[in-house]
Amino acid sequence: MSIITDEENNFKKVDINIKNPVVKSETLEGDKTFENTIRPKSFDAYIGQSALKETLKITIAAAKKREQPLDHLLFYGPPGLGKTTLAGVIAEQMGVEIKITSAPALERPRDIIGILMSLKGGEILFIDEIHRLNKIAEEILYPAMEDFYLDMTTGKGQSVKTLRLPLPKFTLIGATTKAGALSGPLRDRFGIIHRLEFYTENELAQVVKRTAGILNFDIDEGGAHAIARRSRGTPRIANRLIKRVADFALVKADGKITKEIANDALDTLKIDNCGLDTTDRNLLMLIIEKYNGGPVGIETLAAALGEDVRTLEDVCEPYLLQAGLLQRTPRGRMVTPYALEHLGIKGHNISIQGNLF
Ligand code: ADE
Repeated sequence: MSIITDEENNFKKVDINIKNPVVKSETLEGDKTFENTIRPKSFDAYIGQSALKETLKITIAAAKKREQPLDHLLFYGPPGLGKTTLAGVIAEQMGVEIKITSAPALERPRDIIGILMSLKGGEILFIDEIHRLNKIAEEILYPAMEDFYLDMTTGKGQSVKTLRLPLPKFTLIGATTKAGALSGPLRDRFGIIHRLEFYTENELAQVVKRTAGILNFDIDEGGAHAIARRSRGTPRIANRLIKRVADFALVKADGKITKEIANDALDTLKIDNCGLDTTDRNLLMLIIEKYNGGPVGIETLAAALGEDVRTLEDVCEPYLLQAGLLQRTPRGRMVTPYALEHLGIKGHNISIQGNLF
């Protein structure tokens, strides 16, 4: 087990060791512990992303045959689809330790230098939200990723010296919700780049049943599918909802999660049959009622809703786009005819893609 501490390594938010899930995080401590309890540790236990899993199995087997660390890997896709979990599975399969951090915790040069110097041969460094790395941290990473060394400068003025420190060969796994926001030079240093896809209802129902099994919740097939259907293609959401539904089942019924109980609980939580919550519906309604269906800029929407632009872009929008409820155009966001249908809006005098509704 390796738990890194502030004092030893000078980095700000340190972090989880998946094999021994000890969490030191500034926020969401309870949530992270819960996520660690139910995190699958092997490819067999990891549901969904089947094409990606098959490719990774080959990559891992080849690296093991060559007795080399894996190439650096970049995972991108909406939040909650299992990028960190997959990195943990890879570490487990490679039989190596993983150190987990995120770009906002690598603010100062010594943060990234500290963590790089703490790595041992073959280990995996996982950096979440890697698109948020600052320029200096990126420049420290380039030679570390490419040739496994660190360039350090000591002294000042005329007596400045450059020191080249070798690093053990390691694998960097970067995760981002915004592949496009990654700088070109950083992206080019990843040998393998993969996108994680939203999960199907069947896959999510399996996730729900697996989690229910671990947490000793009584659930039937209908209950699992009802939760899956409203989980926006995202296991993290499914795993959160199952706890809320289990509470509801315990208080309002005999504890068993059935289709009826799950639907009742999710209606009470105001999560509709498409998985949309109040924020999603407010966003769509705002575009329809105040901006005639769009296009309207994301900053305007964020200000009107009192939400952060990044929350709308990273959390709300990916699913609304995927579900065909929202469109991104060069002039801003627009709702689709399907959004009107889903929200039960008829006869609204707005023009979408040239059609008058
Ligand atoms: N929990 C979260 N993501 C999961 C996945 N992909 N498979 C199984 N359980 C999960």
